[in-house]
Amino acid sequence: MVFEHGHQHYYVVWETSCPAKAFLLEWWADYARESEPSMARHYIEPQLKRIDDTHHRYTAIIGPVGNASQIHYRATSYSMSTKHYSISRRSEAELTQVLVISDNQNGPTEFRNILSSIRRHYGSHSTPDLILHVGDSVQNVRKLNDWQKQFFSPLEDGGGYHHSSPLVFVPGNHDHDKARTSRNGNVYADMYHGIDATEDLGKPLVANGTYHRFYHTTSLGSARCIVLDAECPSAEQSEFLQRELQSEAFQAAHFRIVAIHIPPYIEFWDPYTWNHKNEKRWGEHIRLEYDALFRKYRVDVVISGHQHNYMRATVPRKGSATDTGSITYAIVGGAGGTLDLVRVENWHMYNVTYLDHHFVSLEIKNNQLRWLAKNTAGSIIDQFSIAR
Ligand SMILES: [Fe+2]
Repeated sequence: MVFEHGHQHYYVVWETSCPAKAFLLEWWADYARESEPSMARHYIEPQLKRIDDTHHRYTAIIGPVGNASQIHYRATSYSMSTKHYSISRRSEAELTQVLVISDNQNGPTEFRNILSSIRRHYGSHSTPDLILHVGDSVQNVRKLNDWQKQFFSPLEDGGGYHHSSPLVFVPGNHDHDKARTSRNGNVYADMYHGIDATEDLGKPLVANGTYHRFYHTTSLGSARCIVLDAECPSAEQSEFLQRELQSEAFQAAHFRIVAIHIPPYIEFWDPYTWNHKNEKRWGEHIRLEYDALFRKYRVDVVISGHQHNYMRATVPRKGSATDTGSITYAIVGGAGGTLDLVRVENWHMYNVTYLDHHFVSLEIKNNQLRWLAKNTAGSIIDQFSIAR
């Protein structure tokens, strides 16, 4: 499986039942836009983490990849090798197709149905360039069975996009252990620790599953996307958010996107836990602190999951006295988890509500952004576009 790792790197994770000797990650790049393809091979010694007697996890980082148009990789040793997989890196002028999904956790049958619909959407000759997963990939990060049954097997059977379409992984509450400590037992999605220390990318990234620094930025074609960790608010994340929102790269991007698992404005939830277990206040900092900043710094789209259905609001942003733009809040929590069907709040802002499973195809090319939400049957349930 391959994950996006900032703008210049990819994080690859693979596993064997027995420890293998002399495994290496081999990668090479095409620089078709510049000159002749480069056939220079790179060999990276992976980190090995023994999960248990029959699960040996290897991780390695590809990059920096410079201006490459394609990256090829495979894991290889003396006696075995994975297939060779290829990642496409689009230029801003090319169409970038982003598959947006969230909250498949604990719903593998529905997830498989959604993946079938996704395959019909892309067809047999096309794949998404990136997958934006807005959190809650498994029910319990400590259970290997959950990872296999709820995430890896459906993805493999559903087209195997995870080998070649890097995941932009936005952590959800189920992607964290309840303890929220550094030794949290997450065995696969701990790759973003240290991502901001780009000069340190070659050094060991993960100590004992520490992964509390999910927040980072990445590119989705000509859009800049800030990834936030809804579960672990901190002074560091607030500082990071302020810095990124104000940055030249974010402000100059054609489109400004934020991805955060918990939406600023929730309307559907379990009424008991909402009112009596204080879950009403769970993500309050996102609405009260972060959303004011999203509006002030002209964010176009906020993409979330957490609430297991589809909602979309496009409202005047009013981030400043002269701001005439709009901001869109999209909730795409419908890749398989049990649906949220009971209304607990009404913010009087959502244009579209759809109470069933779904996925989103986000297409970005230069100054054009197109959002297309489809259900399990492949019918369009919502769409909008932004042109600059
Ligand atoms: Fe969820």
